[in-house]
Parts: sequence; structure tokens; C-alpha cells
Amino acid sequence: MLVLGIETTCDETSCAVVKDGYEILSNVISSQIDLHKEFGGVVPELACRRHIDVIAPVYMESLKLANVTLDDIDRIAVAKGPGLIGALLIGLHFAKSLAWCRNIPLVGVNHIEAHLYAALMSHSPPPLLPALGVVLSGGHTSLVHMEGVGKYKLLAETIDDAIGEAFDKAAKMLGLAYPGGPYIEAKAKQGDPSRFSFKAGKVKGRPLDFSFSGIKTSVLYTIRDLPKPLSEQDICDIAASFQEAVFHDVLAKIQLALKSGDKKAIYLGGGVTQNRRLRTLLEEKLTLPIFWPRADLCLDNAAMIAGLGFHEKPVLGYALEPETRIPFVA
Ligand code: KG4
Ligand code: ZN
Repeated sequence: MLVLGIETTCDETSCAVVKDGYEILSNVISSQIDLHKEFGGVVPELACRRHIDVIAPVYMESLKLANVTLDDIDRIAVAKGPGLIGALLIGLHFAKSLAWCRNIPLVGVNHIEAHLYAALMSHSPPPLLPALGVVLSGGHTSLVHMEGVGKYKLLAETIDDAIGEAFDKAAKMLGLAYPGGPYIEAKAKQGDPSRFSFKAGKVKGRPLDFSFSGIKTSVLYTIRDLPKPLSEQDICDIAASFQEAVFHDVLAKIQLALKSGDKKAIYLGGGVTQNRRLRTLLEEKLTLPIFWPRADLCLDNAAMIAGLGFHEKPVLGYALEPETRIPFVA
């Protein structure tokens, strides 16, 4: 089955063609980083205008690279949320129009679940289950018990900032560009992770849950108390200390979640999984097999939407509404 995937939840416009849930025939991604950089974050109005400008060419390119036409497509999968409302509407309406004009079944996909599916589709099936699923993205930080595709039990979430959001905010305070994650990683390489003793938050009575707003404030106070302008070494040391504290918190919570002893593997997804330090730390400290997304499937992309869409039931008619906030496990 050939699935056309469409992704417009935030600041990437992407279309992809995927065969039988795993084989990626094309995955075209048009990033808007250049557009939002000068504002230090995503400006929704600008994001929507860019989605409108590029969605048709991105779609046509995805068919061309896959060497197919719309007549070959058996199903259309679109990210229905979570995301920016205007951005979601553009993807949804584009998907509905294509589906309606050729009578193609339409599927609405949860973007966060698709980040986890990206790890599954990066490795040959069948997946090693049950597993621990870990989503580390700009908007979400979740741990789930995975029994299969679409079968999850939520174990933990963040109670405030998402992990990628914390990276982006810390980077902004350090005067680094948007999105901050890759810049923090680069500076951390030259820094001393033991110079500042940052700690991620603990949530009373919920040992697995995440909290990153406190560490963000610690970064702010540390910067406030240092001579200005910050030296390059100060920036690198703060970046390294921050990154190390956040990733040790992720490691500790994964270790705690694995204590139940019923999981055979760990699947990770989301933009933060691009970070090499995170990968080395988890590979060093964890003994279960770890499955990471391929480099091109870490950030927002339509291949993961098409891949997951293969496993889901089409909606009746074209009744599909955007959902700006969706719980990971419905
Ligand atoms: O998953 P994603 O594309 O977007 C959401 O669905 O939210 O993730 C984007 C996030 C941003 O916060 C970005 O700073 C972070 O992933 N990120 C990183 C790295 N590359 C991207 N964080 C840490 N280290 C990186 N190398
Ligand atoms: Zn995402």
C-alpha cells in the first residue's frame, strides 16, 4: 500500500510517499528556520503563510521523487495535531482536497505518536516489544509503555516545559540562535559540564514525570550573576552543564521506568534525539537494545506520518478536524 503523508504542524512543510508503512520512496521537507530565526522562535502567522506558499510544490516533488502519480496513492495520512491551529488547517485542507478529488481514503495521525513510529520505521520489522517509548521533542517529553503500534500506556510527561523547549529557551538566554538545541550541543563540546551544578526538577509523588522550568530559571540566575558580556568559555560551560543535567535526568527516568523489568527495548523519537551526547550517554549506561530514528526522521517530517498512517483506520468521509492538543494516549 502506498501512503502519501502530509505534515504541517509547526515550522516544517513536508510530504512523503511510504510503501507498506516502512519503505520510504520520498520524504521532502521544506524547513522554515530561516524565516523564524530573527524572531528567536516560530511566528505562527509567518509559518502559515509559508506553508501555503510551499505545500503544493513540496507535494509535487514528493510524487516526482517517488516516481508515482496521485492515481497510485492508496491512502492519504495527514498530521491532525498537536500543533499550531492555522498550520494544521493548511495541511488538513490540502489533504482533504486531494483525497476528495480522487476518492482516496484519508487518515488523521497524531504527530507525537509518529515521532515514536519514526524509530520503528528506521529499523527492520518486526519491532522488539513490549518496549519503552521515549519522545523528546520541541513540544513533548513523554515516556510510554509500548505494546505495539497504537497500543501505549502513558508512564510520564513533562509538567511544564518540553525538553526541546528548555534547550531553545536556555540557548536564547545565552544569545544563541533558534532553534537552540544544536547550538547548545555545539557549545557544550568546548565546555566544562561540572562548572555549574544545574538540576532538572522533581515532581512530588510522580517520580517519572519531568520538569524543566526550574533549570531554565537556574540558567537565568547564573547568567545574571556573571560579568557581562559573557565570555565564550562561560557560554560553553553553561551549555555543557545544562545539557549534562538535562540528559542525566532523562537517563535516570528511563532507568526508573525500566525497573518493572517487562520491556525488551527502548525506542526514541523527536528532534532532541539528534543530539550526539544524548546518544552516547544512553548507549553507555543502558543495557537494553536502543532504537534511534534515522537522521532524516528525527525532526518533523511526513515519512513518519505516512508510515504510521499505514497502520491506522481511515476516517469516515472526510470528517477530520485539527486538534491543537491531543493526549499521547487517547
Ligand atoms: O521534534 P521536533 O522537530 O519538533 C516538535 O515536534 O516539537 O523537535 C524540535 C526540537 C527543538 O526544540 C530543537 O531545539 C531540538 O528539537 N533539537 C535539539 C537538537 N536538534 C534539535 N535539541 C538538542 N540537541 C540537538 N542536537
Ligand atoms: Zn515534532
